[in-house]
Amino acid sequence: MTPSIPPIASAQLPTLLACMPKTELHLHIEGSLEPEMAFALAARNGITLPYADSQALRRAYDFGDLQSFLDLYYQGAGVLQTEQDFYDLARAYLAQAATNNVVHTEIFFDPQTHTARGVAIDTVIRGLARACADARRERGTSSALILCFLRHLSEREAFETLEAALPFRDQFIGVGLDSSELGHPPEKFARVFARCRELGLHIVAHAGEEGPPAYIWGALDILKAERIDHGVQAVNDAALMQRLAAERIPLTVCPLSNQKLQVFPDLSRHSLPALLDAGLCAMVNSDDPAYFGGYVNANFEAVFAATGMDASAAYQLAANSFEASFADASAKRRWSEQLQACFERAHDTRA
Ligand code: ADE
Ligand code: ZN
Repeated sequence: MTPSIPPIASAQLPTLLACMPKTELHLHIEGSLEPEMAFALAARNGITLPYADSQALRRAYDFGDLQSFLDLYYQGAGVLQTEQDFYDLARAYLAQAATNNVVHTEIFFDPQTHTARGVAIDTVIRGLARACADARRERGTSSALILCFLRHLSEREAFETLEAALPFRDQFIGVGLDSSELGHPPEKFARVFARCRELGLHIVAHAGEEGPPAYIWGALDILKAERIDHGVQAVNDAALMQRLAAERIPLTVCPLSNQKLQVFPDLSRHSLPALLDAGLCAMVNSDDPAYFGGYVNANFEAVFAATGMDASAAYQLAANSFEASFADASAKRRWSEQLQACFERAHDTRA
């Protein structure tokens, strides 16, 4: 049953977007590496970055498409060397998440980006997992890790990565598929995802970011993805829209990412309102906040300002973010009650 949403004055919407409880389910931890931290870690590890300072690095964040971003993103990740580096990175993100009223986050990490440079997968997972445990203990933020395979590499390399990660099977809840989409369809990874399903891992996949709706069909039918990361190209396929709505397959949408990578000509033309109108379980995320200009609340603020969505869309997006998570039913119920209370408070305190 859909709870009744109290009427909210439009002037209150920005505060409400910031204050409402939400989950974040599409966040690459390597994409939360702020230029200032990149320089601090480079100094700590004796690495020289090819930029004068953090402002110069930030100025380089001007992207024409996904690949032009990925080239800088992989270069930036080179400063991450030790378990403490991964811990510090995740701890900084989790602090931002708490400030953004994120009650639960499922964090992507790309082990192959690090193992290719000689960093052991143990180093990566131990550092990230310790930060998650500390955030839960200190702040009550609930979090989990999702291991992503890089789709520009081979399926054999994905199998090797899975094998290397299995001693840490209890430290991650699922697997995903990211990196360069075009030319690397889901079919390429059919067998490794089948193995992951046998292992009881949750399955998600980036699809329909730059790629066509056929990649979303492939992620659903071949990889058996439970959630689609991005998926914004689904609006170009009516049958796919019907299926996503009927099966309540969540789409983890990232507005500022799509704007910065020029997936849409302008944020006002973003497909998020159309996805919600069609009854899809879409929700809002930051993807790579250090590169795209903001954490999850900045994404809410920007996409609402550009498209004119209202308070009922805000409520729906937050409710969808709980539904879309892999958290248990009792946590989802608790967050839904917090959401309802947050909207009732906003209604009671209106001017
Ligand atoms: N890795 C980090 N961010 C990504 C994105 N937006 N798409 C694909 N791979 C990514
Ligand atoms: Zn992503």
